[in-house]
Amino acid sequence: MVLVIRPVTQMDLPELTDIYNHYVRETTVTFDVQPFTVEQRKTWLDGFAATGRYRCLVAQKSGAVIGWASSHPYNERAAYEATVSTSVYLAPGMTGQGIGRQLYATLLGALEKEDVHRAIGRITAPNEASVALHRALGFAPAGLYPQVGRKFGRFWDVATYLKAMPGSP
Ligand SMILES: CC(C)(COP(=O)(O)OP(=O)(O)OC[C@H]1O[C@@H](n2cnc3c(N)ncnc32)[C@H](O)[C@@H]1OP(=O)(O)O)[C@@H](O)C(=O)NCCC(=O)NCCS
Repeated sequence: MVLVIRPVTQMDLPELTDIYNHYVRETTVTFDVQPFTVEQRKTWLDGFAATGRYRCLVAQKSGAVIGWASSHPYNERAAYEATVSTSVYLAPGMTGQGIGRQLYATLLGALEKEDVHRAIGRITAPNEASVALHRALGFAPAGLYPQVGRKFGRFWDVATYLKAMPGSP
């Protein structure tokens, strides 16, 4: 089946919330610890627009939403505005088929046309798939923050990966 990559809509929110809650409950990929209701997740969706730096693209296959890639403010202080934080999640069972690469590459391609100078991915270690994806798309290691997150009763390191956006000075 054809993979469709398109901007997110309000209609996608229940499926996206289900996917996110899987990672909240089961993994350290995210440091959220409490699952969200769809209503609570609206604030997250409201942070995106069809143009500009802060985007959310979803991947859809056979009518089902199977993941998203998104960009967010790295830091609210004004001088950081050309730096975005980026993120990508696929539904469990959809990983390892090249979908994450297509989705994330499409997001990064869209950001290249905006005033974005650096993109930053933060990865809780270990996460080999995410590290491989970031490296494959031009992110380079930019430091490890040891034991900055506590989840499931222990502390976890976070690796930072940074991409210089093509075409940006
Ligand atoms: C991380 C994630 C988005 C990657 O997407 P994916 O579709 O599984 O990855 P792809 O199949 O597109 O592979 C991308 C690259 O990573 C490599 N890769 C994928 N899975 C891997 C694994 N488990 N170990 C090592 N390398 C892996 C691929 O070989 C590929 O490299 P290449 O293009 O140079 O050959 C996906 O696995 C996922 O959603 N994981 C759970 C959520 C998550 O961790 N999100 C990231 C938060 S930082």
